[in-house]
Amino acid sequence: MLILSFESSCDETSAAVCEFGSPAAADGTSTTAFVPRIRSNIIASQIETHRLYGGVVPEIASRAHCDAICGITEEALEVAGVGLGDIDAVAVTNTPGLVGALLVGVSFAKSLAYARGLPLVPVNHIRGHVAANYYDHPDLVPPYLALVASGGHTSLMHVHSYTDFETIGRTRDDAIGEAFDKVGRVMGLPYPGGAEMDRLASLGNPDAVKFPSAAVVGDNLDFSFSGLKTAVINHLHNCEQKNEEYRREDIAASFTKTVTSSVIKKLDMAVKLTGLRDIAIAGGVAANSHLRAALTAYCEQHGLRFCMPPLKLCGDNAAMIAAQGYHEYLAGVRADSSLNAIPND
Ligand code: KG4
Ligand code: ZN
Repeated sequence: MLILSFESSCDETSAAVCEFGSPAAADGTSTTAFVPRIRSNIIASQIETHRLYGGVVPEIASRAHCDAICGITEEALEVAGVGLGDIDAVAVTNTPGLVGALLVGVSFAKSLAYARGLPLVPVNHIRGHVAANYYDHPDLVPPYLALVASGGHTSLMHVHSYTDFETIGRTRDDAIGEAFDKVGRVMGLPYPGGAEMDRLASLGNPDAVKFPSAAVVGDNLDFSFSGLKTAVINHLHNCEQKNEEYRREDIAASFTKTVTSSVIKKLDMAVKLTGLRDIAIAGGVAANSHLRAALTAYCEQHGLRFCMPPLKLCGDNAAMIAAQGYHEYLAGVRADSSLNAIPND
């Protein structure tokens, strides 16, 4: 089946056309392998616009989504080589995210589904990030452990089934990507600083400065990135006050090392607690080369299977929404014209 999907929860407007095995193939009643395929995945990024303000401005984001959504939908259909008549279902992110931004995708998808008489499937953005893994790893089958690391969310999830997610650990304050971006900003990097922090960290000494762990002490699976972020910022201010030079590369490397070791500490606890042997990472920060390398090494060392999406599917995109939308569709999830945007899931 072909799913046309939409993502507009933050500062990327995206539309995709993705192809999935028949429901019979996916539930094992057929010998046909379940191999999802991206026919098109068009992403219009607003980063350049928001960069001027050092962060996403919600009203500007909503207006930019309105301007972009018709054009990228046409492009998604054209690149996929299909027309609206070939589409079997429409999937759309309806939670969580910026309410005005979400509303653009939700309203557009609702109108389109209504006009064409197509089933409409609402998708949770975080679940979508996790489902981005299915394109390269169609044999990633629940139950498994997912680490969601994005600009707005950081959580450890026990994925019981394709549509049953249990959050077993979360950040108590800042999200992991937010911490990367804020430290980057204090070092003068343009918004969002995550990718540039990654590059700088490769050139620095990870043992140059010792920062406090982001793993919350005790018998829990939670993180706190706010304390770590503040410690880095205080360190930078102290250096400036004492007129001491610091290398941005060393700060980025030391910060990144602290983040990765904190993540691995809680992941290790989660593995022991749940007994799960398959691990998947998802979200914008899943693109971080140091985190990818550290998790790969950890999983190899412990004989665990590790899945990560390709870099182009780590950030926000509509193909990931189609992947989760497919499973929600199979589970019978449908929305009607009363579907609304929900900012907090
Ligand atoms: O998942 P995403 O695209 O949007 C949200 O749903 O939040 O994540 C965006 C976040 C930003 O904070 C960005 O700086 C961060 O992902 N990011 C990275 C890297 N690439 C993107 N953080 C660290 N290293 C990277 N290579
Ligand atoms: Zn996201």
